[in-house]
Amino acid sequence: MTITQDGARSSVDHSSEKRGMNLTLRVWRQNGPTAKGKMVTYKVTDISPDMSFLEMLDVLNEQLIMEGDDPVAFDHDCREGICGMCGVMINGQAHGPQQTTTCQLHMRSFKDGDTIDIEPWRASPFPVIKDLAVDRRAFDRIIQAGGYISVPTGTAPEAHSILVPKKDSDAAFDAATCIGCGACVAACPNASSMLFTAAKVTHLGLMPQGQPERNDRVVNMVAQQDREGFGGCTNIGECSAACPKGISMETISRLNHDLLGALRAGARPKS
Ligand code: SF4
Ligand code: FES
Repeated sequence: MTITQDGARSSVDHSSEKRGMNLTLRVWRQNGPTAKGKMVTYKVTDISPDMSFLEMLDVLNEQLIMEGDDPVAFDHDCREGICGMCGVMINGQAHGPQQTTTCQLHMRSFKDGDTIDIEPWRASPFPVIKDLAVDRRAFDRIIQAGGYISVPTGTAPEAHSILVPKKDSDAAFDAATCIGCGACVAACPNASSMLFTAAKVTHLGLMPQGQPERNDRVVNMVAQQDREGFGGCTNIGECSAACPKGISMETISRLNHDLLGALRAGARPKS
């Protein structure tokens, strides 16, 4: 006989019931950018299906610390799908089997007894810092090359003084939801950053405030992504399929349209 939380009596004894999953994890361990890495196998037990993937990694790390081992390094911040910090390859898929961020992936997507391979993003412009953490500052440099608008400071203008068609504001907003996680690069066989750059070019290029620097923005951002060593886009579409924010391939068409127009107008990248 057991007594449930609300005080009701139950003749079924659930106390010995084990709901958690037992998993085998094969995790990429690499001590530093130039160290040789390897997959290391760990077991975790009694993992709740309601845990997030990162919480499951927390359990592994607590276990490793208790055993005197080095915990697995991985990036995370908000754990709410908004900051773009998290991201690992899970069984060869960027962010795993669901189209979401790693922090929003739940263990109910896996089965008891599963073996899960966990690796860092694989792209030479994203060098491994340690274990699953990679250096994504290449994205910051692409933004610095043109992903901004220049406006005088002072009082904000009255919102209705610049009218924006609804379809443009919707498309700009959709593109602006890119969180810079890098899954698009990791999923692309060419390690292309085109979807990321296109999202940034599109969300500014559709707004009136983005027009004065539109041509310079696109040529400089594209030149910077080439300098960083990202591959060329061949319209495979893995990027969009892996993107947790569903950024569409249409943004890449918009970037190409803008780039052609800018080059025809004589815009050239800063050296
Ligand atoms: S386009 Fe999507 S996958 Fe690429 S960085 Fe932005 S949110 Fe991440
Ligand atoms: S930790 Fe912020 S998006 Fe995952």
